[in-house]
Amino acid sequence: MEKYNVYDCSIIELDKHHSDRKGNISVVENGITVPFDVKRVYYLYDVPGGESRGSHAHKELSQLIIAASGSFRVTLDDGNVKRSFILNRPYQGLYVKPGIWRDLDDFSSGAVCMVLASEVYKEDDYIRDYNNFLDFRNIHR
Ligand code: TYD
Repeated sequence: MEKYNVYDCSIIELDKHHSDRKGNISVVENGITVPFDVKRVYYLYDVPGGESRGSHAHKELSQLIIAASGSFRVTLDDGNVKRSFILNRPYQGLYVKPGIWRDLDDFSSGAVCMVLASEVYKEDDYIRDYNNFLDFRNIHR
């Protein structure tokens, strides 16, 4: 499988609809907004200030990470380069390709981190140990 780096991961501007009614609607459509079919949606919330989440990579799964409410930071790491993104707009999604380590921190109070994933939940797809991640990436220090 192709090995992606952090520069292959980027913010996608989501469709945003205004109308005469108050408030906005953003839409994510398979194959249009995201180049994969969404098979699962989950969301993280009530993360206490100072806590971090993530700290893993996926072997095959792609994700679109959206700050549906509030803000948090996502740091992506391909084993060579780290890149941080502050997510704080519900109409932006961070497209994370497979094989990238991610750490999430700096959650604001009330933040909701919504994740649209290309695969169903499979623990086998996770790499939770950083040294195993470097092995997976064929990086030897
Ligand atoms: P995990 O993905 O490790 O959380 P984080 O977002 O911090 O990376 O998942 C935390 C727990 O939730 C773990 O025990 C697995 C479980 N889980 C599921 O059962 N199904 C899911 O779709 C997800 C994302 C997690």
